[in-house]
Amino acid sequence: MTGRLITFEGGDGAGKSTQIARLADDLDGLGIPVLCTREPGGTAGAEAIRTLLVSGEADWDPLAEAMLHFAARREHVEKFIRPAMAGGTWVLCDRFFDSTVAYQCYGQGVSLDDETALRRLAIDDLQPDLTLLLDIPVETGRARAQIRQQSRYEAMSDDLHLRVRAGFLEIARREPQRVKIIDAGRDTDSVAAAVWRIVAGHFDLS
Ligand code: TMP
Repeated sequence: MTGRLITFEGGDGAGKSTQIARLADDLDGLGIPVLCTREPGGTAGAEAIRTLLVSGEADWDPLAEAMLHFAARREHVEKFIRPAMAGGTWVLCDRFFDSTVAYQCYGQGVSLDDETALRRLAIDDLQPDLTLLLDIPVETGRARAQIRQQSRYEAMSDDLHLRVRAGFLEIARREPQRVKIIDAGRDTDSVAAAVWRIVAGHFDLS
């Protein structure tokens, strides 16, 4: 049986990594083979691109930036995600193409048509089985994220982050079957319980 792909999305400081670890434990408890990964990243080449994008200082042209994200994503999909899923593993991924739509399209002005073309070229029709959007007001997320060292994206303007949040919510509005919105402004246990309810219902787990 092939595995599943579950992606976590949301603005900076939404608590995605904590929730991914909690869900991995819950799935593991049911005997489901699970691997956690992240984008940009997940393979040596994609992590090298991550360094350019996340901690680098270059001021990229937005379409070039989207292309770099898709270059990293293709590496990750071909060398990690597809092989893992083919072996029956469930892959939990911290960010995926919805982040490109939210950050590069809604945030930085790349057209949705260009993103569609890049996506088709890079990963064909691969879609997450389920996407959990951890939604949090921009100022709350940014206050949480400020505790750690700021990435190039975290240093961008409040305006961009407001457009990114609105972009994620628009994606969820357009694809309600795949993308579920979770209020991530609550305590960790409440968010984890909401994540589990949605995952268990979606995949008929108990
Ligand atoms: P994070 O792993 O700490 O969330 O950092 C990754 C950053 O990269 C995050 O601020 C959002 C950004 N990003 C994009 O702009 N486009 C993308 O396609 C992805 C995957 C991430």
